[in-house]
Amino acid sequence: MTGRTGIAALVGGVLAALVMASAADAARDFPRGFLWGTASSGFQSEAGGSPANVDRRSDWYRFTTDPGLIADGVVSGDRVADGPGFLNEWRGDLDRAAHGLGNNAIRLGIEWSRVFPRSTARVDTGRHVSRRELKRLDRLADHAAVRRYRRILEGAQRRGLDVMLTLNHFTLPIWVHDPIAVRAAFAGTGPDDPVPSGIRRAGWLSRSTVGEFRKFAAYAAWKLHGAVDRWATLNEPLITVSQGFVSIPGVTGVKAPAVLSYPAALRALENMGLANAAAYDAIHDRDPRTKVGIVQNMLDWRPANPDSPADVEAASHADSVLSRSFLAIAVDGFYDSDADGVEDPGEVRPRLADKADFIGVNHYSPARAQSLGAPVSPTIPLFDFIPAVTYAGHGNPGGPPCPTTCTDFGWEIDPAGLRSVVAEAASFGKPVYVTENGIDDAEDDQRSAYMRTYLRALSGAIDAGADVRGYYAWSLVDNFEWAEGYSASFGLYGYEPDTLDRQRRGSARAYRRVARTGSLPAAGP
Ligand code: BGC
Repeated sequence: MTGRTGIAALVGGVLAALVMASAADAARDFPRGFLWGTASSGFQSEAGGSPANVDRRSDWYRFTTDPGLIADGVVSGDRVADGPGFLNEWRGDLDRAAHGLGNNAIRLGIEWSRVFPRSTARVDTGRHVSRRELKRLDRLADHAAVRRYRRILEGAQRRGLDVMLTLNHFTLPIWVHDPIAVRAAFAGTGPDDPVPSGIRRAGWLSRSTVGEFRKFAAYAAWKLHGAVDRWATLNEPLITVSQGFVSIPGVTGVKAPAVLSYPAALRALENMGLANAAAYDAIHDRDPRTKVGIVQNMLDWRPANPDSPADVEAASHADSVLSRSFLAIAVDGFYDSDADGVEDPGEVRPRLADKADFIGVNHYSPARAQSLGAPVSPTIPLFDFIPAVTYAGHGNPGGPPCPTTCTDFGWEIDPAGLRSVVAEAASFGKPVYVTENGIDDAEDDQRSAYMRTYLRALSGAIDAGADVRGYYAWSLVDNFEWAEGYSASFGLYGYEPDTLDRQRRGSARAYRRVARTGSLPAAGP
């Protein structure tokens, strides 16, 4: 071969490879480098296998074991101890994520109460946690728990999984929040009465929780540095706010402490906004280059009656309060202290602004808003609607019948909702990750189609210009569904409580194919 023919052949080869590569790219529904993962939280998945895996220092342990709440049916009474035992099974589970699902990412959570089983209040810090203060915090931490978390996270990275770590997924240490004491303090108060003063261990109702969360975030960033690729500060603050403080079983839902107080809801929202900013800064102080984001639940709010202008307005109010209010705080610094949807003087706080490098969107279903014609409470003028989210199913056993097609949990299925909320999140100008999406489906006869159609909608959102970088299915393995206990099966794997043996569901294979190719099947299971 002469030099010239050699070069021609080389150029020809390169061209052919380029054509083939772009043909392969054209066949893809998702960009190269897209993150494919599953999501889970510590409290929901760690316990099981051994009594030692149960964390009795968590507010949610207290909440779900309270005899009064069990007797009243507020919580299921299921034992946290019967969980999937991630603390025993993490190696196998990470293998399942990497190989069984062909994933390149995972979203995990750590439990504040395991890292700091005892109060950190006596370590004084300013806005920035110094090295000296970190060393003092180190004396209060459970080193074995921290080492184990680090091993798990490094184990994930070793398997080629990009790690997103959630610092707060609903749970607080019992020294920060005693939900039973908080409930007792609210007994006999009306929904618009002022928040009772002097509650000890008041959780998100106390400004001191912001400072304690800053310490936890700074410490986690120090100790887990390098083992985390991106951080999520808070999971679904609006679920904590709406189900924890405007808790109407069957309508809004139940999360600890499950009280009904509009002023408390606003106070919790503000404290969570401050906590997000504090954690964002604390993590960036230790690692300026890492990414720190917020995870927001976003229902696709629709008018109960599309022909009713009042319902159309109600849906927009629901969207504003329940989907946008925290993003407005974390991105724009806008805390709407009188919840009227108007940006009044003093409501934009520069210290809260620009505290999210990305937005995590948790989306499962659409929801409907029916206008009431007037606010439920003068404290939250935008709350002038009846929400309908969860129909009869595991999530709302006495709920109304499903108006369309629903999951076992009682959530309507409509993939168009994902496209719409992702576009809405992207309009805040930050990269978006779908940090949760999935389905309660023990029989596994709806999950493959659910994922395929929702992912098709996601691909549509990307084609329309949304900067979406990853998708995390909820969840890798069935787990403890908060107040609903073990009734729900969100896992791509089930498990046997006695042996912790995992069973791969058929849909896991379908997800693996998508994760490995970045392409969706035209139709089929
Ligand atoms: C939460 C998860 C929960 C899932 C299914 C999300 O609200 O972040 O903890 O298990 O939805 O209900």
